Amino acid sequence: MAIDGPAGAGKSTLAKRVAARLGFTYIDTGAMYRAAALWALQENVSWDDSYRMEQLSIAAEIELAPGRIRLNGHDVTEAIRSPEVSSGASKVAVIPGVRRAMVAKQRAMGERTSVVMEGRDIGTVVFPNADVKIFLDADPDERVRRRFRESREKGEQISEGSVAAQMKERDQRDSTRSDAPLAQAPDAAYLDSTALSLDETEEAILKIVRSRVTNGKDFS
Ligand code: DC
Repeated sequence: MAIDGPAGAGKSTLAKRVAARLGFTYIDTGAMYRAAALWALQENVSWDDSYRMEQLSIAAEIELAPGRIRLNGHDVTEAIRSPEVSSGASKVAVIPGVRRAMVAKQRAMGERTSVVMEGRDIGTVVFPNADVKIFLDADPDERVRRRFRESREKGEQISEGSVAAQMKERDQRDSTRSDAPLAQAPDAAYLDSTALSLDETEEAILKIVRSRVTNGKDFS
């Protein structure tokens, strides 16, 4: 099952909840691009050095344990959420070699077990044959408000204006890059969560799942 959409639409929270409800494995593909960006930062590799970024993405051992993310054996769960890494992840994600490496890892994960995978290109590129595809969206101002609230809860000192500027820049880059830009797959269900609570959005997603899955058919 694929959930795509822009930053702050609620993909992570909802994909996690829906995976728990269905007994599927939740996979956060954004965390993988973030891990590659973090490693580059640690190794002083420039985010636009395509060759070294591709090598590093191939070599990266990324483990998505429930609730924790490990890079080459080290827990990087919190480190990959900094504003610097958020921006870096969006920059390294434009490099075709980086995307190839990540897509190969993602497909391998999806082949092992039933997954709810969230990102930007899951329904279009990674699993174009996924049985259920959802494009989760929300009004840009609402997405900024949600991210700002999250940052404040984590105790980060960042203004709402900075959150808005960073999100706008990232959305722009993610949706205009030439390789696998953020896009709704033609067969994806569009869901706007602007006016919905988390519970309501979860119910709406499960309704789509029920409507798309026929009796006795496995889906991923
Ligand atoms: O979902 P996120 O904000 O954690 O993702 C971080 C960045 O990674 C995002 O700005 C774009 C990139 N990304 C991508 O290009 N393809 C994906 N499937 C997931 C994320």
